[in-house]
Amino acid sequence: MKGLILSGGKGTRLRPLTYTQAKQLVPVANKPILFYGIESLVEAGIKDIGIVVGDTHAEIREAVGSGSRWGAKITFVKQDEPLGLAHAVKISQGFLKKDPFVMYLGDNIIVGGVRKFAERFRKEKPNSQILLAHVPNPSEFGVAELSRGKVVRLVEKPKNPKSDLALVGVYLFDHNIFQAVNAIKPSRRGELEITDAIQYLVTKKFNVQSHIIDGWWKDTGKLEDMLEANRIILDSLHLDIRGSVDKNSKADFKVVVEKGAKIINSAIRGPAIIGKNARIVNSYVGPFTSIEHDVQLENVEIEHSIVLEHSRIQNIGTRISDSLIGKNVVIEPAPGRPESYQFLVGDNSSFKIH
Ligand code: DAU
Repeated sequence: MKGLILSGGKGTRLRPLTYTQAKQLVPVANKPILFYGIESLVEAGIKDIGIVVGDTHAEIREAVGSGSRWGAKITFVKQDEPLGLAHAVKISQGFLKKDPFVMYLGDNIIVGGVRKFAERFRKEKPNSQILLAHVPNPSEFGVAELSRGKVVRLVEKPKNPKSDLALVGVYLFDHNIFQAVNAIKPSRRGELEITDAIQYLVTKKFNVQSHIIDGWWKDTGKLEDMLEANRIILDSLHLDIRGSVDKNSKADFKVVVEKGAKIINSAIRGPAIIGKNARIVNSYVGPFTSIEHDVQLENVEIEHSIVLEHSRIQNIGTRISDSLIGKNVVIEPAPGRPESYQFLVGDNSSFKIH
């Protein structure tokens, strides 16, 4: 069995971050989202993995490398334009050949991994297995209709969903999926939809199994989903202090302080992670917060947030919460009088200020 991770696409909902970075490389608990997918596949015994990449191919190749660190072999498949998930499958035929495979959307995280689904697929050998989850907002997903436990209809992002069962971003296929992706036409949004390809399999009476998952799953396309994914992953941490925490500081309960990080006169309340060589001075880092490497915080209170590498935040009077702060960002009071805000911010940034 092979793996295919989709890591192309545009990431428009996470702008401005995705102007300069692939959305699949935005870290959750200081690890790129994409790595959770690779680890899930490897844990399911799948080591021959293709990664579909688009415009951001160079940084994804650099971040992932050969795959040897996971004991995996990674093959990159270049998609020149993000023409849809089924298009990504189509162009990967040379890599997948006739092997069955797990397709994993590179911006999804599934707590508990995919091993049991891969095992069931290997054993029962259906043509496809899809994973479904009850969601409160089905019109933002592919939606499945079941009748007596069988999939009867699949619609991509329907305005009036017929059920609350969303397609989770993990799919299992055998080689018959190529017949489907070659037969379907682009949707109204101009993409070859994997949802339509699976509908083709259903219509042609291929064996499409479905499985309703009860574990936690997230498509991290939006800010609030990123923060929630961060919250859930951080919650599974254990206390691990490799940096220095001075005697005036407190860091306990599900706190990770990575090598070279310095915590000075500060309180870190877990679950939280402080990255390598970060410097936290006179600050409070509250629960569910990820501080990446080389970040500096001084006289700051922050919680439920993610701060990316090399950013510097200091002397902010109000607590920062529910925020995603990019790389190399500086937030500090404006000098001199009158008191004012001063901004130099990129397009599509968003601020909420008291
Ligand atoms: O997260 C589950 C949902 O994922 C499903 O419920 C939907 O049926 C499915 O269409 C998909 O919807 P999204 O709108 O979330 O897909 P998105 O455009 O975010 O793409 C998912 C991943 O695939 C992402 O890592 C980018 C990558 N991708 C996307 C396209 C359109 C590619 O590699 N190539 C592409 O052409």
